[in-house]
Amino acid sequence: MVWKEWFGRTEQQTDKPYDDLDPARVPRHVAIIMDGNGRWAQKRGLPRTFGHRAGAEALRAIVRTTAELGIAVLTTYAFSTENWKRPAEEVDLLMNLFSDYLDTEIEELNANGIRVRFCGQTDALAPGLQEKIVHAEKVTAANTGLVLNIAVNYGARAELTRAVRLIAADVQAGSVAPDDIDEEAISRRLFTAGLPDPDLIIRPAGDLRISNFLLWQAAYAEFWFTDTNWPDFRPEHLIAAVADFQKRDRRFGGLNK
Ligand code: IPE
Ligand code: IPE
Ligand code: MG
Repeated sequence: MVWKEWFGRTEQQTDKPYDDLDPARVPRHVAIIMDGNGRWAQKRGLPRTFGHRAGAEALRAIVRTTAELGIAVLTTYAFSTENWKRPAEEVDLLMNLFSDYLDTEIEELNANGIRVRFCGQTDALAPGLQEKIVHAEKVTAANTGLVLNIAVNYGARAELTRAVRLIAADVQAGSVAPDDIDEEAISRRLFTAGLPDPDLIIRPAGDLRISNFLLWQAAYAEFWFTDTNWPDFRPEHLIAAVADFQKRDRRFGGLNK
């Protein structure tokens, strides 16, 4: 199986079976705020950049497990609109890392039927990186497996502001009447258009906040937090999060069945 060859390169096999999980009730969409790379490195006396590299490595096994569990969409928050505030060297390293990730992973992601999508203002990224993003989306566009939705230069407020602007332009052009603006009209103009809302949002590294992630889409998401930093996040953590998710009583404002 191709998965085995892919992940054989790293030793990140899970020995924990998925037996505890109900395959009929896995979340359709899991979103992860991949946080704690810097702290992971600092704890080891290493530069923060090492944490980012280790974080990219950790993603590999999580993508595989997500696909194996039959989850339809995995959104990963890789770089926020606010992360530009960091020192230029760190930003550059991260951009190079995204570029390297696309160079080294696309073939294998494609071989495993994964559809890669990006979420965020990718048109503000360096032209070389933009080309790789377009290429990755194009070569994997016909795949029918897991959708890997990578949030880069993503900020929910910027996303909502953009949607408002698009609607305003349509109203001005006369193609949309103000009374026709409904929730669907907004959802359709977000970067996540066409994807289901996240059912489960996972944040490693111990901070209990959303950091401008999927504010609209998270309306009824379940949250799962762990103190483990992202580079140490393993399939076992994902499985624990999904097991917890399956115990939650999602009422969506209604009453228990
Ligand atoms: C997440 O790790 C990666 C990005 C935000 C790009 P951090 O770099 O935020 O790590 P901490 O939170 O400083 O530990
Ligand atoms: C959220 O982490 C963004 C990503 C993981 C890409 P941050 O590290 O940027 O969030 P804050 O600054 O702790 O809220
Ligand atoms: Mg952080």
